[in-house]
Amino acid sequence: MIDIAVIEHITEVDSTNTELKRRISLMTEMPEYMAITADKQSSGHGRIGRVWSNTDGALLMSVALPTNGLSGKELPMLNYAAALAVFDSISELDSIGNIVSIEIKWPNDILLNGKKVCGILSELVKNAIGEIYAVIGIGINVNADVLPDELLQSASSLKASFGYSIELESFKKVLLKMLLQRTKILISGGREMLLREYKKRCITLNKRIIVHPNFGKSYEAFAVDLDMYGRLLIKNVEDELILLDSADVSIR
Ligand code: BTN
Repeated sequence: MIDIAVIEHITEVDSTNTELKRRISLMTEMPEYMAITADKQSSGHGRIGRVWSNTDGALLMSVALPTNGLSGKELPMLNYAAALAVFDSISELDSIGNIVSIEIKWPNDILLNGKKVCGILSELVKNAIGEIYAVIGIGINVNADVLPDELLQSASSLKASFGYSIELESFKKVLLKMLLQRTKILISGGREMLLREYKKRCITLNKRIIVHPNFGKSYEAFAVDLDMYGRLLIKNVEDELILLDSADVSIR
């Protein structure tokens, strides 16, 4: 039984995140959780204003939840809760085990055999009486046989990685359940546990990386650790320690 008060499926929408934010901004009361899924988005977007391309048989989902148990500094941890939920739900598909390598690349890309299959974008929105909600958007390339040209080099789908089609509805239910479990743990004070589990699965740590900041030139660094709020602690080539809230990183 999924503990989600409202789940609605829409065939086509501009963006599940945008649609959920629109709805919440007009509401004075909200069920504890709300979720929207769609088959297709006309304006799917990702981090740093990037476009999120449609793929056939994708899982496109946004889940809204209250942020009242969280301080502002802990909000990025929602992305990690979502990344762990995606990681665990994909791991469950690998019933034989170790057929594909599943990894999290900081901050929240999920890679199968080194290629991105999932992106996560969390945003904040106020309802009509000023209460703040988090909207966690998850896009997963599930059953695509062919990916758009712009994704071919760096992305893949679950079907291409595992070699068989995934039953989308049951996968969606498992993911929702895991997402709620993880976010509840976070909201009820489980930040440290979440961070420990995230660190175990994050391939970026202890690696030489290239940082692609949101603005400015890319540079080399070493990924040292995550701080207590999940910011990436890096050491640059001048041996200076820097904390990153957000950026893209590639592993060298
Ligand atoms: C990223 O990798 O930059 C994050 C991509 C997030 C895409 C999902 S798809 C469902 C939800 N709706 C959106 O417009 N974006 C998120």
